Amino acid sequence: MDEQGSTNVLWHAGDVTREDRGKLIGQQGVTLWFTGLSGSGKSTIAVAVEKALLARGKLCYRLDGDNVRLGINKNLGFSAADRSENNRRIGEICKLFIDASVIVLSSFISPYKADRQAVRELHDAAGFGFIEVHVDCSLSVAEQRDPKGLYRRARRGEISNFTGIDDPYEIPITPDIHLRSDHLSLDDEVRTIIQYLEQHQFIAV
Ligand code: ADX
Repeated sequence: MDEQGSTNVLWHAGDVTREDRGKLIGQQGVTLWFTGLSGSGKSTIAVAVEKALLARGKLCYRLDGDNVRLGINKNLGFSAADRSENNRRIGEICKLFIDASVIVLSSFISPYKADRQAVRELHDAAGFGFIEVHVDCSLSVAEQRDPKGLYRRARRGEISNFTGIDDPYEIPITPDIHLRSDHLSLDDEVRTIIQYLEQHQFIAV
């Protein structure tokens, strides 16, 4: 679904640049892409990171699987092709936010390596920062947590193609940040991410 459907279209640049916008709000945009099983803690970590960055005067926006699937991606399901299109569209939305100089906290299972790589390449091609954060949690812990009761329903056969049960999750081999969310505290996870942003000069120390 990512071929160019419309022809004779050209990017129309404005007079105000991304740098101008960045100077205005004193920050540069970047995508933090949280990937991991349902229930691994992606959204919880993103919420806490957003709060920590706000306290430092940084503007973030969270994109979250369930929220986005209630709106712009409401026509997509959970087949491999639909997950791929879901992730591709989110990747493009991340780029728009970065162009606006916003820090994007994007939480999607994004189970396929190729889809995550494609989103990284979208960012690379635009010269935008992309930080893959593997929120790594064992299936048994995610299943015990089961915040939405979906694992129980998937085990009963009421939901099919459920990631970790009858659908794959391809583990990131070289994520930029690896968080063992079944061992670390939320504070430690937030600290690790903030330190990474400082070390890579996305935010000042
Ligand atoms: S992704 O695979 O396309 O990246 P996404 O993060 O948008 O997934 O959506 C996952 C969320 O949808 C889960 O947190 C869960 O609440 C819900 N969900 C419903 N059905 C499924 C399913 N079959 N597999 C995974 N998640 C599902």
